Amino acid sequence: MQLLSILEASKWASNYIGKNVTTSSIAYLVQYGLIRKVGENGSTQVLLSELEDYYKKHLTTFRKQAQTEIYLGDCKDILKTLPDNSVDLIVTSPPYADQRKNTYGGITPDKYVEWFLPISKELLRVLKPTGTFILNIKEKVVNGERSTYVMELILEMRKQGWLWTEEFIWHKKNCYPGKWSNRFRDAWERLLQFNKDKKFNMYQDAVKVPIGNWANGRLKNLSETDKIRDNAKNGSGFGKNISNWVGKATVYPTNVVHLSTECNNKNHSAAFPDSLPEWFIKLFTQEKDVVLDPFAGSGTTLKMSQRMNRNSIGIEILPEYVELIKSNIKEYENQLL
Ligand SMILES: C[S@@+](CC[C@H](N)C(=O)[O-])C[C@H]1O[C@@H](n2cnc3c(N)ncnc32)[C@H](O)[C@@H]1O
Repeated sequence: MQLLSILEASKWASNYIGKNVTTSSIAYLVQYGLIRKVGENGSTQVLLSELEDYYKKHLTTFRKQAQTEIYLGDCKDILKTLPDNSVDLIVTSPPYADQRKNTYGGITPDKYVEWFLPISKELLRVLKPTGTFILNIKEKVVNGERSTYVMELILEMRKQGWLWTEEFIWHKKNCYPGKWSNRFRDAWERLLQFNKDKKFNMYQDAVKVPIGNWANGRLKNLSETDKIRDNAKNGSGFGKNISNWVGKATVYPTNVVHLSTECNNKNHSAAFPDSLPEWFIKLFTQEKDVVLDPFAGSGTTLKMSQRMNRNSIGIEILPEYVELIKSNIKEYENQLL
């Protein structure tokens, strides 16, 4: 009856399945009773025979399945432990300035850029040159004016070495109505795209959308102009050849992403809808690539990465949210096994 420490078990399992099994993965198996904790003098040990049974049973799944790593702590520190150029996609939503003070804190608008820059510096280091960083953020209103910290942040990140390549708009489809004396309700948020290099991986075909009913009538009887590239009369340089769309069932989407919020059953006040990380994971990664969320919250990015067979790394500062992430991830893992 051979006993192994958690470290020995992680080495044994890594060797057995042919990819890295962290000590936290072993601790996770023990915590959820998938293998028993044995041992004396307070040190956790596991039985080699049980470990072997577990990995033998799930060998095919583990060889196929991507890994999820979850860290508890401040991403400013934990990011420093990740290797250079190792991440394909970062999708995240940091705390917005001063908002949700009662749940997970907030940073004042005038300190926001100063707070974020050391974090974005690490993100720049860990992202691969072919990778993409999607930052979900929205400026708040202070004294009747929109704050400028997002714009200031973009300028400072460019100085840090980032390219600000695109801005997607997240249109919150199910936003309910409200009344303010001098503005209307926010129904959109920024999804800023940053890259290290102009040439980055982008799998546009993965997010094509149906062409829509307009095509049935419009493409039926084409004029002569429809059959050639017709340049815009306003000199914008934009041109189109309508006949190119004949016979096409799908087309590329725009940079406005129409998604509903869905916070009801996530136990987190600012969770992403599943479809938000899902869309960017499809667009910027392939299976087994590495996705990072340094402000993981309830772990929506990690959960969707797991479902889409991408490796993922999540960092979260609050222990209760780390537990929430683990239960979300485990729920799906159990469905797989
Ligand atoms: C807007 S929420 C993210 C929600 C997430 N997108 C989801 O789908 O659940 C921001 C999260 O960042 C965490 N957080 C705040 N400061 C942090 C830090 N310095 N390092 C890591 N996590 C942090 C908060 O506890 C919060 O859960």
